[in-house]
Amino acid sequence: MTESFDVIVIGAGPGGYVAAIRAAQLGLKTACVEKGSTLGGTCLNVGCMPSKALLDSSEKFEDAQHAFAAHGIDGKVTLNLSTMIKRKDEVVKGLTKGIEGLFKKNKVTWLKGAATITGKHEVSVGKEKFSAKHIIIATGSEVVSLPGITIDEKQIVSSTGALSLAAVPKHLVVIGAGVIGLELGSVWRRLGAKVTVIEYLDRITPGMDNEIAKQFQKVLEKQGFEFKLGSKVASAKKNSNGGVDVVVEPAAGGKPETIKADVVLVAVGRKAYTDKLGLENVGINTDNRGRIEVNDHLQTSVPHIYAIGDVVKGPMLAHKAEDEGMLVAEQIAGQKPHINYDAIPGVVYTHPEVATVGKTEEELKTAGVEYRVGKFPFLANSRSRATGQTDGLVKILADKKTDRVLGVHIIGPQAGNMIHEACIAMEFGASAEDIARTCHAHPTYNEAVKEAALAVDGRPIHI
Ligand code: NAI
Repeated sequence: MTESFDVIVIGAGPGGYVAAIRAAQLGLKTACVEKGSTLGGTCLNVGCMPSKALLDSSEKFEDAQHAFAAHGIDGKVTLNLSTMIKRKDEVVKGLTKGIEGLFKKNKVTWLKGAATITGKHEVSVGKEKFSAKHIIIATGSEVVSLPGITIDEKQIVSSTGALSLAAVPKHLVVIGAGVIGLELGSVWRRLGAKVTVIEYLDRITPGMDNEIAKQFQKVLEKQGFEFKLGSKVASAKKNSNGGVDVVVEPAAGGKPETIKADVVLVAVGRKAYTDKLGLENVGINTDNRGRIEVNDHLQTSVPHIYAIGDVVKGPMLAHKAEDEGMLVAEQIAGQKPHINYDAIPGVVYTHPEVATVGKTEEELKTAGVEYRVGKFPFLANSRSRATGQTDGLVKILADKKTDRVLGVHIIGPQAGNMIHEACIAMEFGASAEDIARTCHAHPTYNEAVKEAALAVDGRPIHI
């Protein structure tokens, strides 16, 4: 007999597993289908978590080599790459097992295999069929490659292969100056690679506030990154010397040049993943980028089938998917949840980190919104002086008339943690004055946020 569930979630990434746990918490009989051998999806297995493990390890290595001496700590350090990679794999194992534990605790059934929607209330996994009152699609996204480039995950790699290289490449060529290129480029640069980033646009990190992106580029160049902006890659092919020839030409057209690389990382974006999902069986619509179309309640064209995370519109971020998973589960249970898409933070986990929330200066200009800007550099923050982490600044954009905070952009130490005071301020509709009048502990990096808020009104103290 077909087993019935209140909710079947397809995909156990951060969107799917959170949706499943929340639905089960709310008393709904829930299953989650996952075809991978572990739970956690891209984020836990080959994305956010392993990259953060390597970012942390490589930062420690770089500090030990170059920063410790100034603190009076001497001694030579050597790299044991296989131990570093093994530690990363252990971190992933622990986290994915953790989700299995959470499923057991919350009585979520893990249906192992690939799901196909075979009816409006039917999901097939292999030969078995299950019925569901509600279905949540959380199948995520996959890597995009470029014509003329075949990813082998050894020498021409996606973010997945770049997490497990067997040796530090002498020259790593990164295609795409987005989040993945800069984070994983940082890992291998710190471990000793020369890193050249080829970017189609004439700037890095498209979508980021221009001023912050320019500062970011300067900081990365100071660290040794080389950028070739306004350039497109025509091909990347293995040569007879065991390397890769990358043919690059100006984006506007012109003479091509060949760059020799040991490893090439393709990081030009991701696309919605709906392979063999059976959307056509039930008439679920997709848009021109292959993303599942949803309304404000994240319902597809079939109202009791929902879609969340990377497979729908919006930023491809784990925390956005998680919040959407919670929202859908709570809606199914009859609650009236809400997501404020204007207050979703984005973080680049380089060193220093870059963290942003809300509107950029360019977006405000385009929308014709009058605003005031307050900025404060970490060079003038006492904690930064004590730790020697003085690169970067906090920039706050506030409405000219009401002083309401519209956007906060930080490049600096622990920016990814600091941004959350801005997120909370924005959730509560705070003004820059509210932040300025909130007592901030001394000495902390967050004092730079308070000073930037004071600077919106032209009255910073320490500059
Ligand atoms: P991305 O969209 O962030 O950046 C891709 C870059 O490649 C862009 O700058 C684009 O202009 C450039 N590009 C595209 N075609 C090109 C070409 N033919 N030649 C040269 N440059 C080209 O994509 P990325 O870095 O691959 O990341 C994928 C997704 O994963 C993004 O949505 C990102 O936000 C997300 N992600 C988020 C992380 C975080 O929040 N820390 C970490 C890793 C990924």
